[in-house]
Amino acid sequence: MVVERLEYEGFRNLETGGIQPVPEVNILYGQNGQGKTNLLEAIWFFTGGRSFRGARDSDTVQFGREKAKLKIEFFAQERKQQAEITVEKRRSASLGGILLPSASRLAGHFCAIVFSPAHLTLIKDGPEGRRRFLDAAYCQLRPGYMRVLAEYQRILMQRNALLKNIRNGERAEALEIWDEKLAGAGARVFAARTAYIRKITPAVKEIYSGISGGKEIIDIEYSSSAGDLTVSPEEARQKLISLFKQSVGTDIETGFTTSGPHRDDLVVDIEGKAARLFASQGQQRSAVLALKLAEASVLREVTGEQPVALLDDVMSELDTARQDYVLNHIHGWQVFLTCCDPSPVMRMNGGKVFRVDKGRITDMTSERGA
Ligand SMILES: Nc1ncnc2c1ncn2[C@@H]1O[C@H](COP(=O)(O)OP(=O)(O)OP(=O)(O)O)[C@@H](O)[C@H]1O
Ligand SMILES: [Mg+2]
Repeated sequence: MVVERLEYEGFRNLETGGIQPVPEVNILYGQNGQGKTNLLEAIWFFTGGRSFRGARDSDTVQFGREKAKLKIEFFAQERKQQAEITVEKRRSASLGGILLPSASRLAGHFCAIVFSPAHLTLIKDGPEGRRRFLDAAYCQLRPGYMRVLAEYQRILMQRNALLKNIRNGERAEALEIWDEKLAGAGARVFAARTAYIRKITPAVKEIYSGISGGKEIIDIEYSSSAGDLTVSPEEARQKLISLFKQSVGTDIETGFTTSGPHRDDLVVDIEGKAARLFASQGQQRSAVLALKLAEASVLREVTGEQPVALLDDVMSELDTARQDYVLNHIHGWQVFLTCCDPSPVMRMNGGKVFRVDKGRITDMTSERGA
């Protein structure tokens, strides 16, 4: 997967223009608030995913403008492709000149992984972000999983509504049917997540070991009420049914399903201790990076395409050895890497350097050796 050209008009603070990146490393440097992350966000939009900063589509239209336009030329599946995005209130997209039913349909055509400081919450915060990471990563591999997740959510909401009605005096008989349904859908969610964790674990361990120079060990573990990775989907289903039965009293009292895959977690330990509570800033950053880079290697293994890596401010808080590992590890991928001070990444050979200044992006490559 290689971005060959990107054009932008009316997007965030970017001055209308375009860049022609190289297939290797593209460095974007500049002071704070100049538009580096904005450029990564523009590329990310072509994955069909939501803004990695949690922005609404309309937030990305330049202040005072009606719409933004993005255009990309990329090489994937052994051919040159072209896509366009228009952002107004929402995003619309076309691929090869044909309008898609929705911008999310770009998924699977252009793929990327993104690391942003916002992702540090993946380690620091509660389990919700980690479940979202697992689910989103698996959706890139198996787009059909999106439907499985939606089905689980729908049944969960219906069971919760029934619990509230029972609390208000409705008879409880119907609950059994919903337990069965929720356990069935829950077992499918469980099966997908455990399959993904099995796939990603070796890569996470290897990459984290590499980042830490072989000095530290990371462990990731699925913490689920349905059991561990050895549990089969059918066993998970049975387990969930009995769990729902067990907790029915509390569930009715709270009007909420208190157990199930919507409460599961992905536990990350560094050197045997919970990373969320004990890891340093640099270790947490390394752990998130290991998860993200592992996500890319699994994606490549399954789809045969190396996703583009968007690395936002990845170097800060990493010592020189960790920085060097990251730079070497991503050798051979197309990378967009932002930084304020370009000197650490200048240790790399090859690649292009762009300066970002008040939304204007200038190719500095010819001046690099000067
Ligand atoms: N819709 C918009 N229209 C115009 N400008 C915007 C819009 N959204 C954000 N900006 C501006 O873009 C700038 C931030 O750009 P960006 O986040 O890309 O900075 P950065 O170069 O990554 O900085 P840092 O090094 O601090 O991460 C801010 O000054 C902000 O005001
Ligand atoms: Mg930024």
